[in-house]
Amino acid sequence: MDVPLSISNPPTQDQARKQADGLRFKTLSDYKVAKEIGDGSFATVYLATEKSDRKREVALKVCLKKHIIKHRKIEYVQREKQVLALLSTAENQHHAIVSLFATFQDAENLYFVLSYAQYGDLLRIMLNQENEHFILDHSKYYSAVLLSALEHIHRLGIIHRDVKPENILMKSDKRIILSDFGTAKMIDVENKKKKEENEGRRRRNSFVGTAQYVLHGEDTTPASDFWSFGVVVYQFLTGKHVFHDESEYLIFKRVEGLLYKFPDDFDSAARDLVEKLLVLEPSARLGTGEGAKSIRSHKFFDGISWETLATIPPPDVK
Ligand code: ADE
Repeated sequence: MDVPLSISNPPTQDQARKQADGLRFKTLSDYKVAKEIGDGSFATVYLATEKSDRKREVALKVCLKKHIIKHRKIEYVQREKQVLALLSTAENQHHAIVSLFATFQDAENLYFVLSYAQYGDLLRIMLNQENEHFILDHSKYYSAVLLSALEHIHRLGIIHRDVKPENILMKSDKRIILSDFGTAKMIDVENKKKKEENEGRRRRNSFVGTAQYVLHGEDTTPASDFWSFGVVVYQFLTGKHVFHDESEYLIFKRVEGLLYKFPDDFDSAARDLVEKLLVLEPSARLGTGEGAKSIRSHKFFDGISWETLATIPPPDVK
């Protein structure tokens, strides 16, 4: 018997929408599953090949329905589908964001067919580099691409809320893509301004994301992703978490007190950028108000050609 969980809308609506979005109805029999490539908390990811003429390689993310229900993850899976479907329409696609090609289900599982990232996640790649961090030029490039992805999702009213190197994947052409939208949030773009003005009665969101990368108790706005972005820029350049400690409690204490240090050889423009992003008050954080534009124009990104970011050769990292 089917487990009563569906990530589909009623069939007729879903069919119309999928056709409009170019997401075709598929089943597991349309793919040749090759090997397991990842195992998350509530999904297993496989490398698979489309059996159709294209023989395209894809990442097949399989979520066991029973497991999702038991661990109360229904909302996360639904959110991920909703956000990825929005980001995968022809007009909303972005070069640095994972694409959703199809979703389907059977009695046991929900399936997401995603762009395949051959080289895995950027944390692993970073730790493979000499001295276990990226050189300045590579850090700049990856930070610029990440910023461009964040700018794009924010424009669509999506906040990622779990920006970290583990959620940035590298494709076979060595370009990076932002993935894992399970904890993303859609904000009402229309009402955003009004809500921001309504400072007095702010509703705090429950904690999501990863301790080292998020600020506890902050409202979900683009500024939340810009905090994590600052943490990631520091990490690219040093290989270390800016707020490293032994327990989540001690990490929170460090975050609260902004207790972190820069190594002596830390690039001075990068230092200025990180200091302007790791600001506890979101309204004073770089990127608030003007949006990512103010981050783009920071001197750390001097020399970055924003117009050609999608086409310039990416770093040839091992
Ligand atoms: N692990 C999780 N998602 C993945 C993807 N899209 N490609 C490769 N590995 C993954």
